[in-house]
Amino acid sequence: MAQSGAKLRFLRKGRRPRHGGTAPSFSMTEAAKHAESTGSRRRLLVLATAVLVIVVPAVLFVGLLPRDEGAGPRQLRLINELALRRQEALAESLRGQVAELQAAVAAAERKAEAATQRAANYDTLALLVVNAPPGYPLWGPQSVENKYQYARRHGYGFLLENGLLNTSRPAAWTKVKALQTHMRMGHHKWLWSIDMDAVITNFSIEAHKLLDDRFDVIVSPDCNVLNTGSIFFKASEWSLQFLQRIWEREFDEPRAWWENAAFVNLHNEDEEVRRHVKVVEQRAINAYPPIICNRESSNWQPGDFVIHYPSLSHSEGFPEMIKQKIKEAAELNGL
Ligand SMILES: *[C@@H]1O[C@H](CO)[C@@H](O)[C@H](O)[C@H]1NC(C)=O
Ligand SMILES: *[C@@H]1O[C@H](CO)[C@@H](O)[C@H](O)[C@H]1NC(C)=O
Repeated sequence: MAQSGAKLRFLRKGRRPRHGGTAPSFSMTEAAKHAESTGSRRRLLVLATAVLVIVVPAVLFVGLLPRDEGAGPRQLRLINELALRRQEALAESLRGQVAELQAAVAAAERKAEAATQRAANYDTLALLVVNAPPGYPLWGPQSVENKYQYARRHGYGFLLENGLLNTSRPAAWTKVKALQTHMRMGHHKWLWSIDMDAVITNFSIEAHKLLDDRFDVIVSPDCNVLNTGSIFFKASEWSLQFLQRIWEREFDEPRAWWENAAFVNLHNEDEEVRRHVKVVEQRAINAYPPIICNRESSNWQPGDFVIHYPSLSHSEGFPEMIKQKIKEAAELNGL
C-alpha cells in the first residue's frame, strides 16, 4: 500500500501511533521557553538517553513490522506495549524534571485560556489540544501554535492539556479525560479535540458553523473507520457518559488505536450511540495526505480545512514535513 516513490514510511493504514519522540522540550509559551533554556544541558543528556532508550528500539521494532500487509492483532498489541514502554522510559529519563515540565505546561494552559476568555465565540467552542510529552518535541510547539492562532482568529477558546497527566495509559487516552474535565467546567458549549499531528490549513473556515445541536458528536470516516483525530463533542450529559464508556474500554482491539478503537467499537455496536453521532465527510474536518487512503474523498486539497497525518509521526522526515505544512498554512492565511 505504500506508494512507490513515497518518501514517508508508515506502519499501516489508519493506525494512529502518536506517542514517543526524542526530547522533552515541547511547550510554546514564554514560561516553557524559559524552562527550556535553563535546562539545556540537562536536555542534551535527556535527549541522548531518549535516543538510546526510545528511538533506537522503536526504529528496530518498526523495521520488523510487515509493511505491505496490515499488521495483525499481535503486532498491534506489541505496538501498544511499545508506546507504553516509550512513555514510561521517557518519564523515567525526565525524573526530576517532570514537575518543572508540568508547571510549564500548566502555565501555558492558563495563559492560553486567559488569552481567549473574553473572545467572541469563547462560549460556543473551544479547541482542545493534548500536547503529549513525551511526544513531538521537534514540531509540537509549531503544531500548538497553529491551533492557537486559529482559535484566536475566530474568538474560540483554546485549551491545552498535558499528555503526561496520567501515565497509566498511552497519552492518547488523555483526550478522553481532558474532554470530560472541560465539559464539567461548563465554559464551552462544544469542544473540538484536534490531534497534534493535524494542521489547520484554511483559517477562513469557521468551525462553529459545522456544529449541529441535534447531535452530541461530530466526526468523520477515513477509508477504514471513524477517526477521532479531529472530533467535536457537545458539552452534554450524554457526551460525558459516552466518554466514560470509552474510557472503560481500555482493552478494546485494536489496542494501538487506543480511544479511537473504543469509539469505533461502541459506534458499531450501539444504535443509540449512532443516533447521537453525526458523521460528516472526511475532508470537511480531517483530510489526509494521499499516502494513507489515496482516494478523492480523503486526500487533502488546497483550500481544505485540516490535514491530519495519522500513523506518520514516527516516519523519517516527518518533523520537517509537518513544520513545512504549518509554515505554508501560516503564510496562506496571513499570519
Ligand atoms: C490514571 O488512570 C487510572 C485508571 O483509570 C487511575 O486508576 C489512576 O488513579 C489515574 N491516575 C491519575 C494520576 O489520575
Ligand atoms: C479557504 O476556503 C475558502 C472557501 O472554500 C476559499 O475561498 C479560500 O481560498 C480558502 N483559503 C485557503 C487559505 O485555503
